[in-house]
Amino acid sequence: MNIRWDAEKYTSNFSFVHRYGSGVLDLLDAGAGGAVLDLGCGNGALTKALQDRGFAAVGLDASEELLRVARASYPGMEFVRGDATDFALPAPVDAVFSNAVFHWIDAERQRDMLRCVHRALKPGGQFVFEFGGSGNNRRIHAALAAAFERRGRCYRMPFYFPTVGEYAALLEEAGFEVRFAVLFDRPTELTGPDGLKDWIDMFVKAPFAGIGAEERAEIVDEAVEALRSELRVDGKWYADYVRLRMKAARPKEASSPCE
Ligand code: BEZ
Repeated sequence: MNIRWDAEKYTSNFSFVHRYGSGVLDLLDAGAGGAVLDLGCGNGALTKALQDRGFAAVGLDASEELLRVARASYPGMEFVRGDATDFALPAPVDAVFSNAVFHWIDAERQRDMLRCVHRALKPGGQFVFEFGGSGNNRRIHAALAAAFERRGRCYRMPFYFPTVGEYAALLEEAGFEVRFAVLFDRPTELTGPDGLKDWIDMFVKAPFAGIGAEERAEIVDEAVEALRSELRVDGKWYADYVRLRMKAARPKEASSPCE
């Protein structure tokens, strides 16, 4: 999926994306100084956090806008442009880390991405990540779908939110050993009085292709109002996030006892 990012707004209003990523960092037990790729590094905040933990971190992202912010924020660090489903590194790394990225990749391209990650890792290397899992933003997408349907339109949920079982199977098929997996609810506070509207405007673009600005605004307002009683609590908006957090390893090459 291709998306043009408003990099400044993303960084100012949606900083929880990288704040929450630090829980994923705790899964990494690669040796200090090890080389780590931050896959889909966005504005580079977590690439910097990896460096602060002693790793030699490199960020890779497809968005030139976000890379510009990353390079300006963290001069001296390495950020490269690349497609998560079609990249190759000059040298293999000890770990690949990723936060809040894989739900943007279509189901059909996940195998390509996992093949690239497997190839990028040294034997024994770690792969730790978190992204939207099964049921993520279920209420938000249901409210949008209802507003589309009232207009005789079909809402196509544009993200990939797999179950633990589905993703573990893909990892194993790609040659990984699954070491840890958890799917958990994480209601996430959004910024400001229009937090939910801003979230939809920022992240839900593809379903509105071909719909005029006026109708789009009506649909979003209608969905926001429908969600007020569920997702607005004590004067704050919350998004109904569900996270899939996993750790996998590229197995060390086995030495055969028969040789
Ligand atoms: C997420 O982090 O779960 C997410 C963010 C934006 C759109 C879809 C999912």
